Amino acid sequence: MIDLSPDEFRRLGYRAIDILADQMDTIRDYPTRQPMPDVVRERFMKQPLPESGCDPTELIESFADEILPYPMGNASPRFFAWVNSPPAPLAVLAELLAAGLNPSVAGGDHAATYVEHAVLNWLKTIMGYPLDAGGVLASGGSAANLIALGVMRHIKTEGSVRAQGIQTKSAPMVIYTSTQGHGCIQKAIEVLGFGHEYLRKIPVDADYQMDMDALRTQIAVDRDSGLIPVCVAASAGTVNTGAIDPLEAIADLCGAENMWFHVDGAYGGVGILAEPDLYTGLARADSLAIDPHKWLYMPVECGCVLVKDAAAMRDAYSLVPPYVRDDAAMPWFSEFSIQQTRGFKALKLWMVMQQIGVEGYRELISRDIALAKTLQAKIQTRQDFELVAAGSLSVTCFRYAPAGVPETVLAHLNRALLTTVQREGRAFITSTELNGKLVLRACIVNFRTTHHDLDILLDVLAEAGQNALAAAS
Ligand SMILES: Cc1ncc(COP(=O)(O)O)c(C=O)c1O
Repeated sequence: MIDLSPDEFRRLGYRAIDILADQMDTIRDYPTRQPMPDVVRERFMKQPLPESGCDPTELIESFADEILPYPMGNASPRFFAWVNSPPAPLAVLAELLAAGLNPSVAGGDHAATYVEHAVLNWLKTIMGYPLDAGGVLASGGSAANLIALGVMRHIKTEGSVRAQGIQTKSAPMVIYTSTQGHGCIQKAIEVLGFGHEYLRKIPVDADYQMDMDALRTQIAVDRDSGLIPVCVAASAGTVNTGAIDPLEAIADLCGAENMWFHVDGAYGGVGILAEPDLYTGLARADSLAIDPHKWLYMPVECGCVLVKDAAAMRDAYSLVPPYVRDDAAMPWFSEFSIQQTRGFKALKLWMVMQQIGVEGYRELISRDIALAKTLQAKIQTRQDFELVAAGSLSVTCFRYAPAGVPETVLAHLNRALLTTVQREGRAFITSTELNGKLVLRACIVNFRTTHHDLDILLDVLAEAGQNALAAAS
C-alpha cells in the first residue's frame, strides 16, 4: 500500500527528523567523508529490482545506516571542495513541506506561484534588477546559464531560430567568455547550436579577470573575418579563483558593439551583498544566472535566471501564441523556460530569506570572505605552503611547497597528498589548474566553518604532504 496512515506518516517523519537532527548534533566530530565500504557500494550497484514491498520503517533506517554515513560531505565544517554549501536547516524542512504540498509551479492561481514571484522579486532587488525583469527558478547554474543564453540566441536571430534553427544568419555568430568561464557556458553554446568553435575563450590578466584589450581585439578580428559577435558571457565569481570580470567595461563594450551582455554569477553573484563595489556594471547585464544552492545555502537544487527584457524571455520560450495570450493575466512560468511541470523550489528560499533577512545573508557571505582571507594569511605565514591565487571572494588557490622541493616534484606531491586527504576524509578539498599548474583549491561557502577548521585543513594537508614527500624520497 502506497498510502500511509497519518499516524504512521507522523511516526516515520519524526524519526527522519531525528536522524537529521542527530547528524547536525555530531557533524563537527564526524569525518567530512568516510570511505564507502566495498560491500555497501556493491549492494547499491547490484541491488535487484524490488518485486514486492517492504516496511517503510526499514527504509528510513537503511537511510540512517547505509546512506547518511557516506555523504558527499558538504554539511561538514571542513568541506572546502567545489562550490557546495551545507543546507540551511529551515530550508530542509521547507523541502519536506514543498513535497507534501506537491504543486506544479508551471503557473496558475495558487499559492506556490505567488511565493515564487515573491522570491524572484527579492532576488531581482538584491541583484539590482528591475522588478519587471523576467525570471524563473531553475535546477542550478548550468540550467540558468542555458536558459539565459537561449534568450540571447532568440534575440540575435531576430526570432527566426524557433522556426528555422540556428543556420539562418549570413555568417556564424560568435560568443566570448574568458579562459576562466565555467564549462557550463561551453555546454550551453554547444546545446544551443552555435558550436564551440565560435566560443572565444579570452585570456585573463594577472587577477584572472577577462583581459579587455584581448576581448576588443578578438571582436575586431572576428568582425574583420565576416563573423558576427553577438554576446559576452562574463563571470561574476569564476569557479577557479572567484575573479569578477570588469563588468562595467564589458557592459560599455557590449553597448557599443550591439552585443548581448550575460553574466554568470552562479557562484559569486550574491557576493554583491557583501562587496557591492566589486559588482559595478552587473545591473546592466541583459541576463544573469545566480545559484541559490551555492551561496544562499539552499539544498540542491535551486538556480535562478533573470532576463532584463521579460518579453524577450517569454518570446524565446512561450508556446502560447500571441493571439491567445491573455496579457492581463499573469503569465505562466512555463512560458519563460523549457520546463512545464516545475517543483516548488521557491518555498525554501522564501522561508530562509525571511528567517535571516538580507542582513543575515550579508553577514554570512562577509564571514566566508573573511575566513578565506584568514586562510590566505595562515598560508602566507607557513613555510610549507605557497599562496597561488586569492580572489576577492571566498576561494583560495595554494600548494604544498616546502622549501627545496623542485617544481617538477610539486605537482606529483600535491596530487598524492590530495588523494590521501580525500580518502581519509578528515577534511575535504579538491584541486584545479592555474597557468598549467595543479593547485589545491579551497572554497568557503559554509556557515559552519571556523578558524579552527582552517587550521585542521592545513595540518591535514601538511601531514599528508610530509608522508608523500617521505614516500617519494
Ligand atoms: C561560476 C559557475 N558557473 C556555473 C556553475 C554551474 O552551476 P551548477 O553546478 O549549479 O549547474 C558553477 C558551479 O560550480 C559555477 O561555479
